[in-house]
Amino acid sequence: MTTNPSAATAFHEAMAALQAQPRRWLVTGCAGFIGSNLVEALLSAGQEVVGLDNFATGYQHNLDEVAEKVGPDAWKRFRFIEGDIRNQEVCHGAAEGVHHVLHQAALGSVPRSLEDPVTTDEVNIGGFLRMLVAARDAGVRSFVYAASSSTYGDHPGLPKVEEAIGRPLSPYAVTKYVNELYADVFARAYGTPTVGLRYFNVFGRRQDPDGAYAAVIPRWIAAMIRNEEVIINGDGETSRDFCYIDNVVQANILAALANEEGMNQVYNVAYGGRTTLNQLFAYLAENLRALGIEYDRPPRHGEFRQGDVRHSQADIGKAGRLLGYAPQYDINAGLKAAMPWYAAFLS
Ligand SMILES: NC(=O)c1ccc[n+]([C@@H]2O[C@H](COP(=O)([O-])OP(=O)(O)OC[C@H]3O[C@@H](n4cnc5c(N)ncnc54)[C@H](O)[C@@H]3O)[C@@H](O)[C@H]2O)c1
Repeated sequence: MTTNPSAATAFHEAMAALQAQPRRWLVTGCAGFIGSNLVEALLSAGQEVVGLDNFATGYQHNLDEVAEKVGPDAWKRFRFIEGDIRNQEVCHGAAEGVHHVLHQAALGSVPRSLEDPVTTDEVNIGGFLRMLVAARDAGVRSFVYAASSSTYGDHPGLPKVEEAIGRPLSPYAVTKYVNELYADVFARAYGTPTVGLRYFNVFGRRQDPDGAYAAVIPRWIAAMIRNEEVIINGDGETSRDFCYIDNVVQANILAALANEEGMNQVYNVAYGGRTTLNQLFAYLAENLRALGIEYDRPPRHGEFRQGDVRHSQADIGKAGRLLGYAPQYDINAGLKAAMPWYAAFLS
């Protein structure tokens, strides 16, 4: 199943060290896709976890699923705070006594930010800053945050390297870039250890398949399982570096435990490959067929989406060198792992 099972040595060592000496973590956005997977991994590794979420786009059923997967003993090590990162008191309360923060809470989606730039700004910049202040005041060992590949904007270079960014193409991209600027300033002005992870199109279990802003993989899987039409934005030759969730979990844990050289940096988190939307459509149909679900309708090509970059692919060398990041799942291994979850969830 994994494409490179022996590569992630640094990750296995980090997990073993954590098991031996558990720490307290704060995961913001814990009821969401990436946050709930981080909570699951940390609880499974014997850690104590505080989770913060206001259910803006997250779900109680994600937390319930984690509780069931880790079992009652591990679940006792989880404390949930329902609250908003735009509230400074809530952030201070959540960060108290915490060693590591994994800050995932934000309003995702480029189209949402084009429709409502103000709320996106308030949550993604205002909320981020309050969380950073809380982490600084709590004296955390590390503040790891979800940055985004959208920060590359209109820079034409491929693969994307961390230093070469272009102009942002959406309000969402602006917010994620401002996060990096604030994190850098906090590292230099207050000595707060920060790491930004520029995620590239993450996918996997518990990613929301429904709603106007659903990401392409869960949206298409849901359409195919329900035998609805799949719409491809543009000619389908738009490409992305799709990254399976377990690679992202690995990157977060390695980043939180980074040494001095690895701290106060921004890293690409991806697989390092490139898949077109047309290829993705074929992979999804193949993976569903393997589960006995036939989808034989042709996709319909719609308009290109505003604010989208044409091609995206990461150079993941920096995360490999400084963090020991070695993604174990390529797109196909990830789809194979994720598909049974979607089949069960959507049926
Ligand atoms: N999924 C991707 O491909 C991707 C790519 C790049 C960056 N990111 C970033 O990763 C992070 C997690 O994304 P995700 O895909 O898990 O999305 P998600 O929507 O599933 O999770 C985000 C969580 O944050 C919570 N949240 C939103 N506003 C909040 C607020 N004001 N206070 C408290 N909680 C709040 C939501 O309720 C939700 O549970 C986000 O910062 C996102 O911008 C994701």
